[in-house]
Order: sequence, then C-alpha cells, then structure tokens
Amino acid sequence: QVADAEIKPLIEKYLSAEGPLLPMLHEIQGAFGFVPANAVPLLAEALNLTRAEVTGVISFYHDFRKAPAGKHVLKICRAEACQSMGAEALTARMLSLLGLEDHGTTADSRVTVEAVYCLGLCACAPAAMLDGQLIGRASVEGLEKALEGAA
Ligand code: FES
Repeated sequence: QVADAEIKPLIEKYLSAEGPLLPMLHEIQGAFGFVPANAVPLLAEALNLTRAEVTGVISFYHDFRKAPAGKHVLKICRAEACQSMGAEALTARMLSLLGLEDHGTTADSRVTVEAVYCLGLCACAPAAMLDGQLIGRASVEGLEKALEGAA
C-alpha cells in the first residue's frame, strides 16, 4: 500500500486546476502504477465529492488500475471494429489460457490483461498492445508468441 503522505502532494498539485480529478488520478497512477484504495477518500475530501463519485470516475476510465500491474501488460481492444473481428472470443481465449476469469493479473504477477477501447489500429482489427507495442490482426497464437518472447 501507499502512504497517504505520498499521495497528498500529488492531489495538492492540481487543487487549483480546472477539472482537477483526472489530472490528479493520472498523476497518482503515474507515480505508483495504480490508484491505491486510500487515494479515494483523500480525493473525495479534497474535491468535496463523495467516495462513490470518485470510484465511479476511476471505474469509468479504463486506464486507471486499482491494483499494481503484472510484469507485462496485454491490452486487447474491445471497441466496435475489433469486436466485429472477434475481439470478444480472442479475449476469452487469452483469459482462459492465462488462467484468468476476468481482466486482471495472473497469480504469478507475470501478465495483466486489460480492455482498451480503440488503439487506432481498426484497419488491422482485432488489435492488441503488449507492453506498449501495437499488435495488429491479433490471434491467440500471435499473442501467445508475443508473450513468450517478452522478457
Ligand atoms: Fe480496435 Fe480501433 S476499434 S483498434
């Protein structure tokens, strides 16, 4: 866990900004790799919001993680163009191969699977991204190979 004292300065930095919640969340995730649970009450108090409102924003934006990511992050696009090219089935197969019931991190902390909504690679759907590298026309075999090749 992350101490409140480490989170507070990141919140204070944007207190006078317009629409400060998103920049604060980005700053917190940038610093720790995720948004720790104890950031929620701190943000709520600083911005005069309810905890539910803060949690709602964190859940709405798929970029924010509630727990630290694994060593590798595999994002599979779930937006329309990719969906029409089988992204749902691809995701389901990858999750089951990795022993995951849903998006999240494998027990050995090696891989985190996340949903993403358009990677700008719609022409090569279904699209994925492994550790920041785009993968077009993604297949189970291709993604498995990419994961094996990842150090
Ligand atoms: Fe998947 Fe655009 S919809 S990359």
